[in-house]
Amino acid sequence: MDFSAVSGVEIKMLGNDQLPAVYISNDFCEAIIALQGAQILRFDLKKKNKLVPLLWLSELNQFQSKKAIRGGIPLCFPWFGAHTDQVDYPAHGFARNLTWRLCEITEHGQGHTVILELKDSELTRQYWDYAFCLHMKIECGETLNLEFTLENLDTQPLSFNFAWHSYFPAQIHTAQVHGFEQTLFINQLNSNQTEIQQDEIIQFTQEIDRIYPNTSGCFHLVDEEDFPIFIQTNAPSAVVWNPWIAKAQRLTDVQNDAWQDFVCIECGDLNQEKYKLKAGEICQYRMQIGLTHQQS
Ligand code: BG6
Repeated sequence: MDFSAVSGVEIKMLGNDQLPAVYISNDFCEAIIALQGAQILRFDLKKKNKLVPLLWLSELNQFQSKKAIRGGIPLCFPWFGAHTDQVDYPAHGFARNLTWRLCEITEHGQGHTVILELKDSELTRQYWDYAFCLHMKIECGETLNLEFTLENLDTQPLSFNFAWHSYFPAQIHTAQVHGFEQTLFINQLNSNQTEIQQDEIIQFTQEIDRIYPNTSGCFHLVDEEDFPIFIQTNAPSAVVWNPWIAKAQRLTDVQNDAWQDFVCIECGDLNQEKYKLKAGEICQYRMQIGLTHQQS
């Protein structure tokens, strides 16, 4: 189907590798979704004839085929971080590096809905030998609504981890993240020790890399000048990450001073429980991102 015939939709190619992306424009927002990784690259709300960006995207992206794009909302699946046994397997799983199938784009009173699909293939089976089907439903309207559905098509139960690795624009020295007080976290910068967060608010004064296996699913990012962003999810886990100076310099796709411009608040299922999904079963995670004070 020719999806560019849908009103408010254009299909454009990114970078030298010509990665296809869906460009959306409607009364509420402008958005860009790359088919590689079903990755939302941009989501800007239209407020008082101004565009307010809710996601951060690195200016150094080359948009290379099978290479993770830095910024927006990359999807980590079926593992998070480095693979536990295989050092040469891609970090954060393979789902963000592969091209998903564009199944549907619809325009309606609340904006646009895009549905993408990734199924097991010869390539995915090299890393993870299971039959599965993933769907990402992306609603671009007054808020950004995501729904991730995993269907186990195998005869074996699945063990997996999953996260929406969202990059939010922030001024790092004034940004505050709310919603993690008294929550247990695994400190990835301290030999994965578990700690309880005592502070009501997270503020950024150094590198931070924390996995919160079980959370309330309701977070706010507050900055001095900008509208507060809310994140609401039924996914149990979250990660808060900022690379700070030294690590950012090692990231070739982030400008040296750009670590000051974003924070990652990632929502997903990072519980270490094995066999989360039985053969034939389906699980679904949802996340909503928007501005706390809606102004038109
Ligand atoms: C975070 C991890 O989610 O992603 C960090 O907690 C990691 O440890 C970061 O450095 C970035 O990962 P990548 O693979 O996108 O560079």
